[in-house]
Amino acid sequence: MKAKQILDRYLSFFEEKGHKRIANSPLVLANDPTTLFTSSGMQALIPYLLGEAHPSGNKLVNIQNCLRSQDIDEVGDNRHTTFFRMIGNWSLGDYFKKEQLSWFFEFLTNNDKGLGLNPSRLYVTVFEGDETVPHDEESITIWKELFSQKGIEATVVENAETNGIQEGRIFTYGVKKNWWSRSGIPENMPTNEPGGPDSEVFYDFGTPHDEAYGEHCHPNCDCGRFLEIGNSVFMQYQKQEDGSFKELPQKNVDFGGGLERLAAAKNHDPDIFTTDLYNNTIATIEETTSKSYTDHKAQTHMRVIADHLKAATFLMVDGVIPSNKEQGYILRRLLRRASVKMHQLKGNVTPDADFPVIVDSILRTEAELDEKLNDEENRKRVFSVLEDELQRFAKTLTNGLRELEKNEVVTGKIAFDLFQTYGFPFEITEELVKQQGKSISYKEFKEEYDKHKELSKTASSGMFKGGLADHSEKTIMGHTATHLLHQALRDIFGKQLHQTGSNITTERVRFDFNHDNRLTEEEISQVEDMVNEKIKENLPVHFEMIPTQKAHDMGAIGLFMDTYGEKSKIYFIGPVKGSTDKPYSIEFCGGPHVDFTGELKSFKIIKQENLGKGQKRLYASVGL
Ligand code: ALA
Repeated sequence: MKAKQILDRYLSFFEEKGHKRIANSPLVLANDPTTLFTSSGMQALIPYLLGEAHPSGNKLVNIQNCLRSQDIDEVGDNRHTTFFRMIGNWSLGDYFKKEQLSWFFEFLTNNDKGLGLNPSRLYVTVFEGDETVPHDEESITIWKELFSQKGIEATVVENAETNGIQEGRIFTYGVKKNWWSRSGIPENMPTNEPGGPDSEVFYDFGTPHDEAYGEHCHPNCDCGRFLEIGNSVFMQYQKQEDGSFKELPQKNVDFGGGLERLAAAKNHDPDIFTTDLYNNTIATIEETTSKSYTDHKAQTHMRVIADHLKAATFLMVDGVIPSNKEQGYILRRLLRRASVKMHQLKGNVTPDADFPVIVDSILRTEAELDEKLNDEENRKRVFSVLEDELQRFAKTLTNGLRELEKNEVVTGKIAFDLFQTYGFPFEITEELVKQQGKSISYKEFKEEYDKHKELSKTASSGMFKGGLADHSEKTIMGHTATHLLHQALRDIFGKQLHQTGSNITTERVRFDFNHDNRLTEEEISQVEDMVNEKIKENLPVHFEMIPTQKAHDMGAIGLFMDTYGEKSKIYFIGPVKGSTDKPYSIEFCGGPHVDFTGELKSFKIIKQENLGKGQKRLYASVGL
């Protein structure tokens, strides 16, 4: 079964059960500084899981592009990737465990409407309970019944982590395996974060257990026999300031499953890189390197290249540009890591000269699954950002490798120079040094390396600080200032100008947009004056839930609109609610905003940056 068919079947299956399809959010969420990348389908739904009414109702389904940069070092085996697609369905206080587990099981096992997997290959896990949250007896009862309908007697193995596998079908685990929140286990959750116990489904490939991973095998064992293919989170709790949990006003279901893994299960082949989501890319890498995927060493490198270039392609499509911080740093690191792997496969030639042809094969494969990849503008942007970055790195790579090869012992100073002079990420130097069997003089290297690693860990952990988006007075003002700035820039430079990103903290507003020329001092003053004028006018701000098409027709702006939702939240600046006066600004936005622009007091642009490729960035302060 092709991946596209899995997606279509999943969406139809849940639409038939009354779910509304919602948008695939961008990999970098607008106005959400709490996370670096979208790493789960629920991320864009936080306010609704906490109780706000969703414009599309309380049963939702979608396919979400996700990036988990914290998994970068795991890539190379048969199942880990940084980029993946998550199939997701949600109940916002509607159905709960019974429907969720039954529907997912039906989707997995039904031949006509689902994947037609053999139920005897499926194993499940549930939460074993602790002092605050009970043993999940309800899920156990549901699973027993579901398996019994297929003629399978499902025995329970308690405390699977310590007991290992016995003849069992349902396994209980503690918080490390069967609790889900954006920040992981309960202890790590910040105040107000939602989370809950979960129930996972594993596919058994039947491969022999590898005792290097422990005496006994069990679903969560890493030996590769079992692959997790779906996670139903019963998101019903919210962390309190004193560390305890209170029940949310509604019991939610947050389900997510990895498309790549479902495709592997359907193929009954544990290697996700042999599915149609990767096989064209792997074939292109084989052609360009004249190496075979069946060669064990080449295989690992090829998987890294296939994953990293795919992740990089999606990041570039979503407007990320290589840089030395935040999302741009991860993009740069993915491309450079892929370059180094390519070099290792091909030897000392210009390794990334082949990247455009590999990226082209990724774009062709992905265009079947995601309309965005068909867009000519997006394709152009990908190739031009790629070309720029490759030119920058080509020199770096050759010189850096020469430098590394010259030295028998890589001192901290050399590693640091490689980083500073050639832009060699520390992680890559460390990897190469280890691979070449050389020694590193750890003393200085540690010092320098640790300093940098801390920075890159923060950037790649996928989360800056966790927790809910900051809704302090200052950041709410920042949101409204962003709308005024966006409108002022369009009024001055024309409607082709649009926002490509934004980030708001209590200190400042950061706003990215497409514009070729650096703004002159006069233009900066003109923008400031225009925004301050609107602040002085003390215009009212309000939102309405409007049919998405109607909002488009009204000229609502905003890059990150919900293209599938029937209704969208639209913010108006200008008229009071109900009036027919022409609004000053109309934007797709989740909010929140101030009630009147006068609350912003004043607006000042403090810095301008050139992001390259016709993109500019402005920093501004508000409310002084
Ligand atoms: N949010 C859950 C996950 O990412 C479904 O696993």
